[in-house]
Amino acid sequence: MFLKQVMGSFNEVQALILLLLIGFSSFIKCTSTLGDTNALLHVNASQGSTKNLPQNLFGVSFEEINNAGAGGLWAELVSNRGFESGGLHSPALIEPWSVIGGYSLVRVTTDFSSCFKRNAVALQMEVLCDSNACPAGGVGVYNPGYWGMNIEQGKTYKLVMYIRSLKPIDLTVSLTNSTGGKTLATTNIIAADVSNWTKVEISLKANATNHNSRLELKTNRKGIIWFDQVSLMPTDTYKGHGFRKDLFKMVADLKPGFIRFPGGSFAEGKSLMNAYWWKDTVGRWEERPGHMNDVWAYWTDDGLGFFEFLQLAEDLNASPIWVFNSGFSQEQAVDPSNIKPLVQDALDGIEFARGDPNSTWGSLRANMGHVEPFNLKHVAIGNQDCWRGGYRANYLKFYAAIKEAYPDIKVISNCDGSNAQLDHPAELYDYHLYVNAKTMFSMAHKFDHTSRTGPKAFVSEYAVTWDDARLGNLLAAIAEAGFLIGVEKNCDVVDMASNAPLFLNANTPSNKGFRPDAIVFDSYQAYGTPSYWMQQFFSMSNGATLLDSTLQTDSSNSLMASAIWFQNPVDKKNYLRVKVVNYGSNKVNLKISFEGLDLGLIDYSKSTQTVLSSTNVKDENSFQNPTKVSPVKSLLKKGKNDLNVTLPSNSLSSLDLLVLSQNIALINTKYDMSYASSI
Ligand code: AHR
Repeated sequence: MFLKQVMGSFNEVQALILLLLIGFSSFIKCTSTLGDTNALLHVNASQGSTKNLPQNLFGVSFEEINNAGAGGLWAELVSNRGFESGGLHSPALIEPWSVIGGYSLVRVTTDFSSCFKRNAVALQMEVLCDSNACPAGGVGVYNPGYWGMNIEQGKTYKLVMYIRSLKPIDLTVSLTNSTGGKTLATTNIIAADVSNWTKVEISLKANATNHNSRLELKTNRKGIIWFDQVSLMPTDTYKGHGFRKDLFKMVADLKPGFIRFPGGSFAEGKSLMNAYWWKDTVGRWEERPGHMNDVWAYWTDDGLGFFEFLQLAEDLNASPIWVFNSGFSQEQAVDPSNIKPLVQDALDGIEFARGDPNSTWGSLRANMGHVEPFNLKHVAIGNQDCWRGGYRANYLKFYAAIKEAYPDIKVISNCDGSNAQLDHPAELYDYHLYVNAKTMFSMAHKFDHTSRTGPKAFVSEYAVTWDDARLGNLLAAIAEAGFLIGVEKNCDVVDMASNAPLFLNANTPSNKGFRPDAIVFDSYQAYGTPSYWMQQFFSMSNGATLLDSTLQTDSSNSLMASAIWFQNPVDKKNYLRVKVVNYGSNKVNLKISFEGLDLGLIDYSKSTQTVLSSTNVKDENSFQNPTKVSPVKSLLKKGKNDLNVTLPSNSLSSLDLLVLSQNIALINTKYDMSYASSI
């Protein structure tokens, strides 16, 4: 009625629409201003307030879990290459090998006739048909690898195998599609006398690409052929060292300061028999027995053995951190009175890694092609074993023996020293953290009150898990980023940190393995989860200089920030990097003030803002959309005397300022801006 009087000729419907529009527009205005938060970050770049971040602060934790190595980073395409996975039985399961041809034509079993002492099992294939009585193409066996082999057109694959037969053989070796219907590469082995075990080496060049291929060994000649140690490797691996190139690059892009291996629980085993015993994983690959990874329920041929782990660390320019068994599996324990042989085993392992090439174990390393010692400086005594009765007693024996022989080696205890001093000597203590997102973000302050003296923390496994993370989402990544900023700020008591697990083969059944993971892959492709991309924001922190920084905000519970000074190894220029996590659901207007830095020295044409965010905090990446949640880079906008940036809700931002100065000490303070009063 009132509107009608005011508006004169407007009818009632028009008036109602206008009313709604006015109401709606003021609602929008209200929510956008109410939704924003203001914050000020004060960065003190003057020299007196800096700390050196450890050279190896951020690294990776590699575990043989989720087929990370066997069927993953280790490029071997044949699974169960020695037919050992079924154990010392006859007949034994030979999975994933399968038979081509019916039982009336070909019979396959295992026996113990191998020429290799440590892996006695061999495959015996008895062909009952001959020539035309056999199906076209012959009968035989095939191996599908780890959920299909990736065979690529134009690439070469090296097949090595051991064969024996009492009669002359005519064998066809082929790479085919998953059903055997299409051949990608093939060759014939015709030999008159293989009555003794004979090594065969063949090069196969693929004429087409198929990501789900298999290796076939077929014949149409009657008789018995024995096979053992059948290996198929792409020739195109990182430096020829056997690492799948795409997966290696993904790890290398994190610029890890260290690599912890071989686990995790994998180092312990469920039973001691299936723990990781390094001596079974070195020497010629043909002679390695392989073992059941009983914690994660799959067989590993141990192609990625102790030597290869050390080589991997060297190739990544990362410090190797060897976790050895402390006398405990998940279900069994070695009494301290019997621990001596295991102590000797650990000493032998260190000698293998860094001993003189003339020493017993150093000479084996040299024979394997690495005459120079590897740079092993850290060992961890066990994994998550502190709670076990007898751990300390075992630990002390390992510790004393290692320190006596290798005083420079830093020893990592499984016991938590973050709340109270350890009751035993150690340079570092291992700390694992698997929690929900909220707890992870709050753990940024975990080490604020830790004693500044005594052993330092090695956070060797951290991750947001379960519903908050699912297969790896933005929420997990930004919560973890908040925690890592806390790690940077506490770098005087935290020496190293790594997310875990590193890898997941996407074919791992959903009831097996561990999720989420940083890198997900299948036979030929890979993507990083948001946590993977998050780690890249910290890749320049190793060895950088941490600057004092203080946040002033009304939402301190959802913001975490740090500032570092680093030299980019590529352009050799100096950068000031400010990282800020906005864990809240409001966007934040952040002003950054600097002390001890002349803003005139900033080259804005090369200064950037990189943001990890997404429309939904539960967003994940996938093979279909591998970079849905990934860093987006833009040029930083130049402010008058200051830096003003917007931090999207649920985001991690990195502001990289190119500072035109050789040395932070040369930078003079021109502006000392304080905006505290304006927020
Ligand atoms: O990272 C996955 C597992 O979690 C590790 O094997 C173990 O150390 C931890 O419990």
